[in-house]
Amino acid sequence: MNRRLDDYRLRFDPKGPEFVPLMLGGMGVDISNTQLALEFARLGGIGHISDAMVPTITDRHYDTEFTKEKLKKYRHNMENQDKSAVKFDLGMIAEAQRLHVETTMNAKRGPGLIFINCMEKLTMGAPKETLKVRLEAALDAGIDGITLSAGLHLGTFSLIEDHPRFRHAKIGIIVSSVRALALFLKKNARTDRLPDYVVVEGPLAGGHLGFGLDWSRYDLKTITVEILQYLAENHLTLPVIPAGGIFTGSDAVEYLELGAAAVQVATRFTVTRECGLPDEVKQEYFKAEPEDVEVNTISPTGYPMRMLKSSPAIGSGIRPNCEAYGYLLDANGHCAYIDAYYRAVAATPPGEPVRVWDKTCLCTHMRNFKVWTCGHTVSRLKETTRRLPDGTYQLLTAEHVFKDYQFSTDHTIALPDPLPAAETATPSLLTEA
Ligand SMILES: Cc1cc2nc3c(=O)[nH]c(=O)nc-3n(C[C@H](O)[C@H](O)[C@H](O)COP(=O)(O)O)c2cc1C
Repeated sequence: MNRRLDDYRLRFDPKGPEFVPLMLGGMGVDISNTQLALEFARLGGIGHISDAMVPTITDRHYDTEFTKEKLKKYRHNMENQDKSAVKFDLGMIAEAQRLHVETTMNAKRGPGLIFINCMEKLTMGAPKETLKVRLEAALDAGIDGITLSAGLHLGTFSLIEDHPRFRHAKIGIIVSSVRALALFLKKNARTDRLPDYVVVEGPLAGGHLGFGLDWSRYDLKTITVEILQYLAENHLTLPVIPAGGIFTGSDAVEYLELGAAAVQVATRFTVTRECGLPDEVKQEYFKAEPEDVEVNTISPTGYPMRMLKSSPAIGSGIRPNCEAYGYLLDANGHCAYIDAYYRAVAATPPGEPVRVWDKTCLCTHMRNFKVWTCGHTVSRLKETTRRLPDGTYQLLTAEHVFKDYQFSTDHTIALPDPLPAAETATPSLLTEA
């Protein structure tokens, strides 16, 4: 009894290396960033970067001008409701992805691994072609593994089966039901390659959910057991990695005792110094109460999404920004936000601001950290830190949270060491001193 997560190890191959069984979930856009993923690798776990909107992320961090160039090419189309002419340059996607992944992998230290989260729903005007380029460029750039997410990925293995690293890099899939897993395995059987791991994402996760608005009827433990049973019945020994609502090291141990190989976590790391969210947004996460969180349908992807009700993106009526971004355009240049926006424009009296409530321009608002997506447990984050004299909450380090998951028992949560007095003083006090 009283076991710790550190009493277990994750192995992808029976004779392969061992890892701390803690995986950082991918958090787009630029939330599970390079710095956060690198800490997981350094500490012996598995970190995820995300490939959501990578060209605009490399523009932010590495001074590329991919977005500016794309906008220049399509600026003439901005007033046009028809976005079918707006396409990504596949060479540009590959260049951005390689830069993002190579920079991360070159900085990697320690015994852990770094994977990339690739969402199928990021259809980018040409779903198959752009996904293939993203995956191949990540493999070219030396990523340790790829997690296929936000979609069923029924044809994804076929897209990359000729890549020289297809059978060597770790490739896993996120599912929310045994049905989705069975379908994935059936449809990808032709490539004669199993996934290396299965992330089982339950209804309490952050980001997009693999459930409807009846998400609260489902339960991660039940789905995990169903998937473990299905794999056993089919003589498959894939590592199963549950995710969603696993808040303490002891929560994690409960899943490992059921037979899971590791757990995937995210929300507790949104309030770390390394996480890509701006500090003001991290404070919003700390302050959140249970009633401040909702699962809504404003994402144009069609998947429900969990977020703080105070997310600035909700009700924003900005013009669709597909000429610069356009990451959610389908093969016909369609995105549900475009329709919602023009409906709202038609219904808004002249001179009044346009407000769009049913959908949001997810590209622009995720890129600018205006969609405050979070897991169901976000309101517990305040339990994990100290309140500073100015009323704000002390940010944590990724190492502190990682080790708390790794070593804690009895559902305890270790608070961080208090900051030295000089660091807790408000800026005005510092100026006066
Ligand atoms: C801020 C945030 C952003 C997320 N973005 C993504 C994403 O881009 N792709 C994805 O597959 N999952 C995403 N997720 C889900 C996480 O990767 C993870 O599976 C889940 O949130 C784990 O549950 P927890 O947050 O309760 O620990 C996101 C989660 C959060 C909190």
